[in-house]
Amino acid sequence: MLLIKNAFLYDPASGTEGQTDLLIRDGRFSRIAPQIDPDGSGPLQIIDAAGLCAAPGLIDTHAHFRDPGFTHKEDIHTGALAAAKGGYTSVILMANTKPVIDSVPVLTDLLARARQERIHLYSCANVTLGMQGRETVDFDALAAAGAAGFTDDGVPVMDAALLEHALQAAVRLDLPVSLHEEDKNLIAQNGINGGGPAAQALGLTGSPREAEITLIRRDVEMAVQAGAPLCIQHISTAEGVDLVRQARKQNPRIHAEATPHHFSLTEDAVLRCGTLAKVNPPLRTETDRRAIIEGLANGTIDIIATDHAPHADNEKAQPFVQAPSGMIGLETAFSLGLKNLVQPGHLTMRQFLACLTCNPADFYHLDAGRVAEGAPADLVLFDPEASWTVQKPFASRSSNSPFLGETLPGVIRYTIAGGEVVYER
Ligand code: DOR
Repeated sequence: MLLIKNAFLYDPASGTEGQTDLLIRDGRFSRIAPQIDPDGSGPLQIIDAAGLCAAPGLIDTHAHFRDPGFTHKEDIHTGALAAAKGGYTSVILMANTKPVIDSVPVLTDLLARARQERIHLYSCANVTLGMQGRETVDFDALAAAGAAGFTDDGVPVMDAALLEHALQAAVRLDLPVSLHEEDKNLIAQNGINGGGPAAQALGLTGSPREAEITLIRRDVEMAVQAGAPLCIQHISTAEGVDLVRQARKQNPRIHAEATPHHFSLTEDAVLRCGTLAKVNPPLRTETDRRAIIEGLANGTIDIIATDHAPHADNEKAQPFVQAPSGMIGLETAFSLGLKNLVQPGHLTMRQFLACLTCNPADFYHLDAGRVAEGAPADLVLFDPEASWTVQKPFASRSSNSPFLGETLPGVIRYTIAGGEVVYER
């Protein structure tokens, strides 16, 4: 049994905000009340959380653990450790591994290994076989094997007929299809905002905003027609946010993710941090960053997802065009949200935490994201007044972060998954 005393609880699902004690028994919250005293009914660990805030364990719907195939960057275990350190207790993995997650045996093997970890790990399966965009996967078999949703994240689904097929499966199976929206026919070099000052300085044409806008326009229209649960991944343009806002009026099952890097940085970061700020879709303008924040504030975007994309130092050390896109995010996401969303007053703490807990849980049907008696005891305890400096070593196997050296607010003190302390600082 675990007794947490004197925490200030934020539970966005119920709207609870206030001082409370929480008793955890057999992996679940057994009592939540202003004052709980030990009753001597068994061995008990007590955490005095005076001065700390509590929230449901965070949920990331978009992380790359690179397992199988690229485990020199990350594996299931190091990814889970990075997640726990960042306050996450549930993570949905992306499917651009090697082999990719397009068949039941690969998914089954991954999920079996994921169950050995101390936080809850789920995985998407692909939309198309081999992520080649030519033929769809067996959606029903993969759903039966436990796929959390379907995605070819990393590459767009260019063929509208295949996407139509996927959206029908999404409706039938009630599982999200999530899409990387960058029309590759419009991209000269990826990872940098097309036409912007950073691209100009590097002599590159880059990935123009139209590459995202055209695909989002096509795909939200298709999802409206199909009534399908659709996720627009890592949205990067103001026009994209507006398209999602309009489409959600007709189909509220359309959702969008904002990443911490897209709400924290602009393309200028490429000039400061080089390949560490190379990411797909690219960091764009201050107007786009503000539109994403506004979208989070008004509920157009209701999921914050990390797109945790580890890469090895020697890979990121290559010239800009050759270096892979992506940055790690699990260990910095929470603090970046406090710094860039909550502290400036764009979002309340409750709104911010909803984007990291009950909103993604509802969309992906996870039994998580709420602090209530009987619910799984997934919890994060954090100190909102303390700060820390982003530095190596990370719990992640990789350290490709453009935030290295920055001092950020908010320190995760405890992460508790299934009633067990899985991270403590
Ligand atoms: O920058 C990115 N890196 N964006 C993606 O969508 C994929 C990711 C990766 O897998 O490295």
